[in-house]
Amino acid sequence: MFITLEGVDGSGKTTQTALLCDALGPLTVRIREPGGTPAAEGIRKILADPGTPLDPVAELLLFCAARADLVSRVIRPALGSGQNVVCDRFVDSTIAYQGVARDLGIVRVRDLNDAATSGLAPDLTLLIDVDPEQGLGRAMSDDRFEAEGLIFQQKVAAAYDDIARREPERVVVIDGTGTPEEVHGRVMAAVNQRLAA
Ligand code: TYD
Repeated sequence: MFITLEGVDGSGKTTQTALLCDALGPLTVRIREPGGTPAAEGIRKILADPGTPLDPVAELLLFCAARADLVSRVIRPALGSGQNVVCDRFVDSTIAYQGVARDLGIVRVRDLNDAATSGLAPDLTLLIDVDPEQGLGRAMSDDRFEAEGLIFQQKVAAAYDDIARREPERVVVIDGTGTPEEVHGRVMAAVNQRLAA
């Protein structure tokens, strides 16, 4: 099964990804986007540095380039060998951040991602829902997106809500408030329900 976790900066996704992978067992492949291959980790360094000026379309293409390498060299082979793959962010992040918050257009972002992933979609997406203001308060780094501030994060949150409304069979909204253990309990309920289906 291919599971992705999504949410605004500081939503606690990364903690939840780790807890979920532990729960699914040692054969689970855990990935954080952008990253997961040597080339994608190199791209991550460029994207993460707020001191590197970057045209918004170049930014979009770098996310897609990193994802293309990750999908073909890691995710597809792992799924093909029967492993579970859990990815901290995937295409929905690019729709929300670049397509909506950066206003590059959802259709363009979707088309580029179809090329990058050769149409691979998650079986289940867990949207960790927290108030963007609360998320920014929790975010530990100061990357180029956190530096954009609250209005940007609110646009990202609205875009995620829209995705969840349009694709209720794939996207499960998880209440991200409470302790990590409480949120993990909600995550596992959603995953187990999907595994039983
Ligand atoms: P990261 O340190 O992974 O943040 P987080 O722990 O909040 O996920 O940095 C990833 C940043 O890149 C994050 O601010 C979201 C952004 N991002 C995009 O804008 N588009 C994308 O396609 C992806 C994967 C991430």
